[in-house]
Amino acid sequence: MIFSHWNGVSKSTSKAARSTSTTKPLSEKEEVSITFVRANGERIKAKGKVGDTILDIVVNNEIDLDGYGACEGTLTCSTCHLIFPKEVYDALPDKPTDEELDMLDLAYELTDTSRLGCQIVMTKDLDGIEVRVPTTINDARA
Ligand code: FES
Repeated sequence: MIFSHWNGVSKSTSKAARSTSTTKPLSEKEEVSITFVRANGERIKAKGKVGDTILDIVVNNEIDLDGYGACEGTLTCSTCHLIFPKEVYDALPDKPTDEELDMLDLAYELTDTSRLGCQIVMTKDLDGIEVRVPTTINDARA
């Protein structure tokens, strides 16, 4: 307000304030974690960012889930099948598309709370979730 008549000063001041306020808080609050539970009970905790898919987190953390994400998220393999706790499944922001449901039909150990990890985008609300990795994967392309 004080600088409203001093165009040069007010512009550079507000620009600096804007860049400070958008970068720092975002990088701090964007981190999320997820735990993968293998069929043998082994738990693998990994970190990612809000906006990552679960497939991104597996790839970025180099998690050794045999064959996981074979089609790189193009909805043609179903190797990224994961089983969610019911309350998490119900709270997922997006419902599965017909294409995802078709792929899920080809997954082993399909449950009522199964989803494809490449289609789940992490939000802050999903921070800390646990997901079960099925015993076997099925690459629908094979
Ligand atoms: S990575 Fe292939 S369907 Fe998800």
